[in-house]
Amino acid sequence: MAEGERLAGGRTDMCGALRAADAGREVVLTGWVARRRDHGGVVFFDLRDREGVVQVVAHPGEAGAYGAAQGLRGEFVVRVTGPCRVRPEGTANANLPTGEVEVAARRIEVISESLTPPFPVEDRVEADENLRLKYRYLDLRRPEMTRVLRDRHRIFAIIRRYFDERGFVDVETPMLTKSTPEGARDFLVPSRLQRGKVYALPQSPQQFKQLLMVAGLDRYYQIVRCFRDEDLRADRHWEFTQLDLEMSFASEEDVFEALEGMFVRVWTEFLGLEVPTPFARLTYDEVMRRYGSDKPDVRYGMELADLTETFRGSGFRAFARAVEGGGVVKGFAAPGAASWSRKELDGLVQEATSRGAAGLVWIGFAGTEVHSPVARFLADEELAAIRAATGAGDGDLALLVADREDRTNVALDGLRRLMAARLGLVPEGTWAFLWVTEFPMFEWSDDEGKWVSTHHPFTSPATEDLAPETSRARAYDLVLNGFELGSGSVRIHRPELQSSVFDLLGIARPDAEEKFGHLLEAFRYGVPPHAGFAFGLDRVVMLLTGRDNIRDVIAFPKTASGIEPLTGAPSVPSQEQLDLLGIRLR
Ligand code: AMO
Repeated sequence: MAEGERLAGGRTDMCGALRAADAGREVVLTGWVARRRDHGGVVFFDLRDREGVVQVVAHPGEAGAYGAAQGLRGEFVVRVTGPCRVRPEGTANANLPTGEVEVAARRIEVISESLTPPFPVEDRVEADENLRLKYRYLDLRRPEMTRVLRDRHRIFAIIRRYFDERGFVDVETPMLTKSTPEGARDFLVPSRLQRGKVYALPQSPQQFKQLLMVAGLDRYYQIVRCFRDEDLRADRHWEFTQLDLEMSFASEEDVFEALEGMFVRVWTEFLGLEVPTPFARLTYDEVMRRYGSDKPDVRYGMELADLTETFRGSGFRAFARAVEGGGVVKGFAAPGAASWSRKELDGLVQEATSRGAAGLVWIGFAGTEVHSPVARFLADEELAAIRAATGAGDGDLALLVADREDRTNVALDGLRRLMAARLGLVPEGTWAFLWVTEFPMFEWSDDEGKWVSTHHPFTSPATEDLAPETSRARAYDLVLNGFELGSGSVRIHRPELQSSVFDLLGIARPDAEEKFGHLLEAFRYGVPPHAGFAFGLDRVVMLLTGRDNIRDVIAFPKTASGIEPLTGAPSVPSQEQLDLLGIRLR
């Protein structure tokens, strides 16, 4: 409890806050009955509130309280009055912050009763996640879940204080708005007054924050909900929260400095850990070459080696063919894995192919021996080159993929992460922040059959060169322990350049005018150069609280099939609602 806070409901204390120093005081507590035990004529129960639990004892000597205690069931809400006292010799519980004391109930009032919960309200639950989400209020009552929500709040509060101190202005932007391109599907909301038209829920406040710079706000930030209709993953949700910011007259360096300061503050205040600055920086080309990923986990080695030239024209036809076809050969060495069983190695091949690679070649090095299903196809010089390039030593396992460059990288990035976890190479308690810079301006989309923006179409090119194959963007990502935390860029602020980028993206003039006319128009009224960034707060909370699923840090999340089990959303609209909106369902 914060100092000076007045407790509602006639309480004198929070259950979880009582300590030995409170012994001797008469206390009034409220809370939920956590666990009840009858011990030969004395009833014990734990009383829980959001600060923790404390043991309550009801003795037959206090007839009223004792009678009431006998009728209590789990999750009843009660008010308990009585003295706080030190527990009898030998009964203290060192595992509990309140473990030295107990409350001897003189009076117990039942405020509300509870049905038997569908799963125990305690930290270790085996319950199915759907059930937990359906009864999310009980799930969140579990101490570990309450803690996550409160940690989330603390992290948000540190961030707000930081940006406030730095002169950033918190401005809310609309939720019912127009589609803005962040690369996902939109959630649409039909308009009642403008029949046949829809609003899109924002995938990000991108255009509004740029307009706020035109408006002269200079430094903006917002903790904002964003909506993207995309496939869910462990670190992706449809409704998620961004820390969004934008700065006028700013370059990359200003954005980096503001954000590094914020992360240092959060890590110091929340974890009590010092994070060294400046954060490491690598270019996009370098991370792709060395890790096969634009969000590499740099807490461990096993960097990728390029063996393309070694296998050009090789007698090992599978690899030579891949190179002839314009592909690459890359691989890395997993320390000490040469002794893995055939079954484990077959499992790795499966992992590679399931990530889209044509296959995986494994080579175990043990003394002068070479274990590999393809050993007899490989020349001695090739084996030597593999060892030299990957650094594979005695007892190590080289893993090689030959395929199109993108597929090779995807497969090896996945295998590298998997091997690091299995070999115990990921150091605990290490925070590897990394800026990835100089992203390509455009990337080819097979799906759309055209060039698309790697970041978004408002990102400034690094040079005037707008050739789609070679142009680089003033865009940057922040990566932490192999997760993409966020992205940003220096923006285009010249309307002609913005129009050229739209042209290149195949956004026809009338279309660009319809979609982004407001922004191009605004840029004709005096626009400061500006740059910004957004990062996923849910992801940050997830990493800081050591959870491995984003749903655990969101109070009321949806399931993978898009259902909110608690309310049953989405629901079938009534005919009346549809008529109002002028919609007919097929
Ligand atoms: P971007 O699209 O990269 O950039 O998003 C920024 C960060 O938001 C988080 N994020 C998500 N988190 C959970 N679930 C999702 N579905 C999801 N999608 C994105 C990620 C991501 O790195 N407007 C630009 C930023 C800018 O240029 O200023 C933007 O939104 O952590």
